[in-house]
Amino acid sequence: MVATLSAKVFTALQLALAVLSPAFTVASREHQQPLGVDHTATQKRVTWDEHSLFIDGKRLFVFSGEVHPWRNPVQSLHLDVLQKLKAAGFNAVSIYFHWGVVEYERGVFRWNEIFDLQPFLDAAKEAGLYVIARPGPYVNAETTGGGFPGWGTRVEGLWRKSNRNYTEAYKPFVKEFGALIAKNEITKGGPIILTQVENEYSGFGDGVEDFEYEWELLQDFKDAGITVPTICDDAWLGGHFQSVDIYGWNSYPLGFDCSHPEIWHSAPPDYFYNLYNSRIRKHGPKSILELQAGGFDGWGGAGYDACGKLIGPEFERVFYKGMYGSAVKIMNLYMAFGGTNWGQLAEPGVYTSYDYGSIIREDRRLRDKYYELKLQTQFLAVSPAYLTSTPWQLTESKQIEILKGTRNIVLTVLEDTLDLHTKFYIVRQVIAVYPFVEANWQVPKADHKLELQARDSNILLVDYKAGETHIIYSTAELYTWKEIDGVNYIILYGDPNEKHEAAFKITEPKDFSVLSTDEEEDWSYQIDDAILTVNFSILEDGDTHTIKFGNTVLLIFCREVASKTWILDTKPPTIVKGGYLIRSANVEGSKLHLKGDLTQATRLHILATKTVKQVTFNGKAVDTQPATDGWLYVMYTPELPDVKLPELSKLDWKRANSLPEIYEGYDDSNWVTASNTYTPNREKPAVKEVLYASDYGFHSGNILWRGHFTASGGEEEFWAVVQGGQAFGYSIWDNGAYVGFWEGDVTTGRHRCNFKLPKPWKKGDKHIITFLQDHMGLEENWTAATEHFKAPRGIFDYGFKGAEPKLIHWKLTGNLGGEKYLDIERGPLNEGGLYGERQGWHLPGFDDSDWKAASPLDGVKEPGVTFYRTTFDLEVPSGLDYPMAIEYSNSTGSYYRSQIYVNGYQFGKYVNSIGPQKSFFIPQGILNYNGKNTLAISIWAMQNEGAHLNSLDLRILGKVEGGVGPVKNSPAPAWSRRKNAY
Ligand SMILES: *[C@@H]1O[C@H](CO)[C@@H](O)[C@H](O)[C@H]1NC(C)=O
Ligand SMILES: *[C@@H]1O[C@H](CO)[C@@H](O)[C@H](O)[C@H]1NC(C)=O
Ligand SMILES: *[C@@H]1O[C@H](CO)[C@@H](O)[C@H](O)[C@H]1NC(C)=O
Repeated sequence: MVATLSAKVFTALQLALAVLSPAFTVASREHQQPLGVDHTATQKRVTWDEHSLFIDGKRLFVFSGEVHPWRNPVQSLHLDVLQKLKAAGFNAVSIYFHWGVVEYERGVFRWNEIFDLQPFLDAAKEAGLYVIARPGPYVNAETTGGGFPGWGTRVEGLWRKSNRNYTEAYKPFVKEFGALIAKNEITKGGPIILTQVENEYSGFGDGVEDFEYEWELLQDFKDAGITVPTICDDAWLGGHFQSVDIYGWNSYPLGFDCSHPEIWHSAPPDYFYNLYNSRIRKHGPKSILELQAGGFDGWGGAGYDACGKLIGPEFERVFYKGMYGSAVKIMNLYMAFGGTNWGQLAEPGVYTSYDYGSIIREDRRLRDKYYELKLQTQFLAVSPAYLTSTPWQLTESKQIEILKGTRNIVLTVLEDTLDLHTKFYIVRQVIAVYPFVEANWQVPKADHKLELQARDSNILLVDYKAGETHIIYSTAELYTWKEIDGVNYIILYGDPNEKHEAAFKITEPKDFSVLSTDEEEDWSYQIDDAILTVNFSILEDGDTHTIKFGNTVLLIFCREVASKTWILDTKPPTIVKGGYLIRSANVEGSKLHLKGDLTQATRLHILATKTVKQVTFNGKAVDTQPATDGWLYVMYTPELPDVKLPELSKLDWKRANSLPEIYEGYDDSNWVTASNTYTPNREKPAVKEVLYASDYGFHSGNILWRGHFTASGGEEEFWAVVQGGQAFGYSIWDNGAYVGFWEGDVTTGRHRCNFKLPKPWKKGDKHIITFLQDHMGLEENWTAATEHFKAPRGIFDYGFKGAEPKLIHWKLTGNLGGEKYLDIERGPLNEGGLYGERQGWHLPGFDDSDWKAASPLDGVKEPGVTFYRTTFDLEVPSGLDYPMAIEYSNSTGSYYRSQIYVNGYQFGKYVNSIGPQKSFFIPQGILNYNGKNTLAISIWAMQNEGAHLNSLDLRILGKVEGGVGPVKNSPAPAWSRRKNAY
């Protein structure tokens, strides 16, 4: 199917040309009176009007990416991620806080080492990024309880309402976090420019938006010292929480099914003026606080590369440009870097990796989509007219008229309301399916037609001022323009073989030359009435057209080359063509110092100020060749030495049984007795005794239950209703004899079992039913005024068939200490309730000399839990970034669960029968790259025949020379005897 776009698009374009005035008279964009009033009394640095935010009186497009500091427990790696965002052209980073990890014990705030947010905020400042603080209290974020603390499950009544029980619970947290934000605001020299209050406060379990709660929460943040504007994140453009200064909303147009990454089930949403105007009372800049930039993936899911493909470069082109078509001026991409659900950070819907398919992978390597985004951020950064542009309200019939025959194409025209000249024509495909649909339209002069491929969108310019150069129009997209030593370099780009046309105002018609050496048929030009019109096709293989007129040099690149061209903030700017990542540049007399990451021998083409004669890369001088057109050429071959990795399967492993709880004589007197008969939980158990782990202070990891009974005689079957969250599993023993198991599946969070007891019970015999259950995290649900996060983990109901024994009591344990957890350094969620965890076997320095030598690849022949330990050394030279992962392979048909602990940090939860994750990234800093590492693996074998690992490998995921610099290992305190460990 070939659809033809009527020439009227460009009739409109020519219309725009007709009103062309000889000189640009742009009212000062920078010093317009901002409309934002609420905060000007307390601070004047961050203001806003209906178009955009201003910082220090200067308008900006806030292009932000979401990063969760707590999903990366290595403080010295934050700067790497933040520099990568900066190099991609972002000017801000947005962060969720996590109440639950810092106030795990009610009233006790622990900001020690890896939980301290200050190093992240300092790194953001160092990288040159603003920060949007999103403290919650609720964050959702696919984290346990949506960020609520576990003890909150015992606080009665609806949460996220003006229910006193809840407001009293959040106030100390808001005071603490609010003070931290206040201290780091731009007004005090910090990077924070906006604070988002609450999160997705949009759907209400009781159907009521609680304005009193909103007001009180806002007031509490202000009382804590926050003066920068507040913003909200409505889950859709629904008009909720408008008492904040700036209204914002979120948008996930393709949802979270990554299993068919080629299918788009939806078109870009049109947040057109009418919709926004009709719902929003105070008109601030249009703000998308979360725009889909990947997807989370659940147990049994398609894996994150599929999410990265679904939300790939084409999505970025069509959907993000759709957002610009709605004149969005604050845009935060969720996620820019997902990180890891290490410890037990996950909610049940997700697994250990939170890679999110985002531009920066979990292991901090860059996906292709990173480079596409750079084309957009850099364009917006040099297009101030966009900041005051509003869309023309094309009626539907007008759209159809203009786009005759091409229902699959949408055209939006944005016009600068200040200069009344500059226009952005945003054309995009809204068709979701392959094969390609083409749309052709006529450009003003050329006799050829332009094509827009399916899943593409172009921003065409009309009357655009690129510094001193007046672009009358261009059908090729603009990447950037930069003045270097009085020459204005303009970079246009397109896809190879596309034909484009651009017209410029010129003052001196004779002063025109074409510097590119390419075939003449690839381009032509015409000069009429001081208008230069150039027709060109985009070249392949990195060849470029270079056209010079006046002080302008027009560079025409293909998309690939443009997207790998780095714009660096030196004065004047430096442009570097080529390279995997250029982080920064610094000019020192005749020297240009570049810092970056390279994966292979790379030719860099550099445009720098004329004084530069010599280039250094990562501190090493490189042979620098000048070229006639002002560029410098260097060739750099990174040193990527081999690093010796241990063969994990061949190491000396030790093994110990980690389930003594099922043996006769095991002493559970130090366990908590589940003696409650009342639960504050709304969901009441069916049995008299309350068997909910959180009611007793255990909120994560494996939970063990022991029911002590006296047999009445003749008990033959045991049944129970158990809840642990999606993909959980459990095993049950009767006095050491295996009763049975539930291996878990993708959807079941609550499971009913019915097992035959190994032997019918005899009257008067004592029996202990031992339950080992997995806890997949507390639920999240962004619907407010609900108590979903309180969904119990434990046993709702149970009973026997044949006879009813007498219950003596139930006992339980989770992590040692519960809310008074022991390992302050690694945090409250890192340990679960396995015997080995309670004893600290996962920690370095534990003496396993009397353990049996045995490998996890041999495994065990009966059900139970086994701990394996080994150590190995690594020696990775500095100046390299070699991310590594520990990888399992599928032992198909075997039901077991396994956890990985590296130097005491739990960095992987593997479920062999569910997946999908088999490769577990372990960051440098958790892995000691220069010395000894302790690796512990737990295996919970569920089947009668036991379980073993098919394989276990340590693998390097990618190699670059460069990196962020020295990485400091996170604290990894060694084992010491745990008092009262049981
Ligand atoms: C607040 O907590 C108390 C004590 O647990 C309880 O009695 C009361 O009903 C709760 N209030 C609400 C609104 O749930
Ligand atoms: C979230 O809560 C709403 C309201 O109670 C409910 O309808 C919805 O099913 C819940 N979602 C999930 C994923 O549990
Ligand atoms: C192993 O293979 C089985 C059968 O194909 C599959 O169901 C399971 O999800 C796989 N496990 C992992 C970890 O990928």
